[in-house]
Amino acid sequence: MDTKPRQKSFEKNPIIGTKFTIAISSAKGGVGKSTFATNLALALKKSGCKVGLLDADIYGPSLPKLFSINEKPKSDGKTLNPILKYDIQCMSIGFLTEEQTPMIWRGPMVTSAIKTFTQKVAWNDLDFIIVDMPPGTGDTQLTFSQEIKMDGVIIVSTPQEIALQDVKRGIRMYDKLGVKIIGLIDNMSYFIGDDGKKYPIFGEGGVKRTADEFNKEFLGEIPINPEVGKLGDLGTPIVEANLQHEISKIYLELARKIKSFYL
Ligand SMILES: Nc1ncnc2c1ncn2[C@@H]1O[C@H](COP(=O)(O)OP(=O)(O)OP(=O)(O)O)[C@@H](O)[C@H]1O
Ligand SMILES: [Mg+2]
Repeated sequence: MDTKPRQKSFEKNPIIGTKFTIAISSAKGGVGKSTFATNLALALKKSGCKVGLLDADIYGPSLPKLFSINEKPKSDGKTLNPILKYDIQCMSIGFLTEEQTPMIWRGPMVTSAIKTFTQKVAWNDLDFIIVDMPPGTGDTQLTFSQEIKMDGVIIVSTPQEIALQDVKRGIRMYDKLGVKIIGLIDNMSYFIGDDGKKYPIFGEGGVKRTADEFNKEFLGEIPINPEVGKLGDLGTPIVEANLQHEISKIYLELARKIKSFYL
């Protein structure tokens, strides 16, 4: 986190109602972006920030499940009200559609959904909106990078070589589009066995090496812990369920770093 973020951007639309927009991204699927986004949002809230969470995964929204939200947002005909859960303002396409309905949307419809979520949601007086990106380097990432004022992106990866290849593609895309990469996080980095030993199941050091290769900051490691998945499935992410947990402490430290950098 070397240079201070630009406070103003004249070409791109800011999301009205927030000071800073930070995306959680990775070209690879299933590496823990949504888990990371929800827990980081909660850690920022616990650190005293006002936070919004925007689930930008139009094809596979996760927020309804991860935050156990079943209600529909209210609208005055012009704007949609975010749903308040755990003191976080939330929006997801999953609040507006039935869970079983497959999302058969073409590119322009995705772009229009993103415009609605960024320009027509009554986000209110936030310090940060955390955007949970879908996997890939497609329409969603492009629309956000080219049309919305993004203050930074955190790239999540697991340490396998196959994940890192996609991650490198993601880094090049954000660099090319001029979006600041805050840093890389190594999720599901290792497992601590009952014997107390550290098992680097997916290999060791790959995310840090990638960060070094691209001259990006390495933001640290989050171990594999079955509690993380279990609590996510129950709709109360680990930072909300147990602030004393070692994984919650990692998120709190990251939140502190982000808060002091931006605010
Ligand atoms: N640190 C962790 N320890 C254990 N399980 C984890 C951890 N992080 C994520 N998971 C689990 O990994 C799975 C994938 O996580 P998640 O849905 O957050 O990934 P994603 O990158 O958002 O996926 P997608 O690309 O489909 O959006 C989930 O079951 C989640 O509970
Ligand atoms: Mg996801």
